[in-house]
Amino acid sequence: MKNHKPTKYRQSKIKKLHFNNSFTKNLITDSTAKTKSLKPFFSFNNAYLYKGDVLNSSSFLKEFCDLIVTSPPYNVGIEYNSNNDVLTYDDYLKFTHKWLLNCYKWSKNSGRLLLNIPLDKNKGGQKSVGADITAIAQKVGWKYHSTIVWNEGNISRRTAWGSFMSASAPYVIAPVELILVLYKECWKKIDGSKISDISKKDFMDWTNGLWTFNGESKKRIGHPAPFPKELPYRVIKLFSYIGDIVFDPFSGSGTTALVAALNKRIGIGLDIDNQYCELAKRRILHELNTFNFQEAKNG
Ligand SMILES: C[S@@+](CC[C@H](N)C(=O)[O-])C[C@H]1O[C@@H](n2cnc3c(N)ncnc32)[C@H](O)[C@@H]1O
Repeated sequence: MKNHKPTKYRQSKIKKLHFNNSFTKNLITDSTAKTKSLKPFFSFNNAYLYKGDVLNSSSFLKEFCDLIVTSPPYNVGIEYNSNNDVLTYDDYLKFTHKWLLNCYKWSKNSGRLLLNIPLDKNKGGQKSVGADITAIAQKVGWKYHSTIVWNEGNISRRTAWGSFMSASAPYVIAPVELILVLYKECWKKIDGSKISDISKKDFMDWTNGLWTFNGESKKRIGHPAPFPKELPYRVIKLFSYIGDIVFDPFSGSGTTALVAALNKRIGIGLDIDNQYCELAKRRILHELNTFNFQEAKNG
């Protein structure tokens, strides 16, 4: 992950940005509402974690997200602590509809959703997961912008040949995942700080929708399905302004909230599992403290 310095002019503007630490009170909760929204599980600097269920529409009571970066469970039998990852395909699509609808409600009109999902599914019957989720998202109201293909160089999916060297029933498996680019009302961003901090090279490279970088190690992070920091990093730099609110409703080890806070955004993570929230808390504390120490050392 590279560190790009904004120009001097922008640096002075950035310093003036006020990250309001009580923003959760103002933006996510609604003092006039009868139901209470979630209280933060943890917060540090500009990173906030909530323990709760994305299927519960009153987890948050207001529109607050500028950008959602997330990767939901893929329903491929991963052993998560608190959710079943072996639903029928029909139930998985119903689950998808529900959480996409809640995230739609929690997004600002200019909100964007960058959704990391599988292209397809081979185990237990071939399914066009990417196409099906794209259709559901649009049914919910999300507008389609484009699709980034993430080539994660993972050949572990290469487990079955079907009929080897025979046209009888060969299997074709692409070692890629998708990152759908969706938005709520209008693609052009009209609110926020209007300050971008992406370099010319990264802008040119990343607007080419074929991204190649490795996945993350489960063992290193201590979570069964983390994505690498590079994924939210690119998305945040390309699709959000400094000071924007970046939300991950399936926060897991807290990668999105961490990367957002490291890059002068406000990062908010939601996860249903207490242990993953604890893991994300430790990770955020460790990395943000290390980052603050380096910043102080370098003046
Ligand atoms: C694919 S992982 C996300 C990993 C994350 N991107 C990271 O880098 O660590 C999916 C996460 O969704 C969480 N989850 C599953 N069902 C949920 C629900 N209904 N509400 C909130 N979180 C849920 C799981 O606990 C798991 O941590």
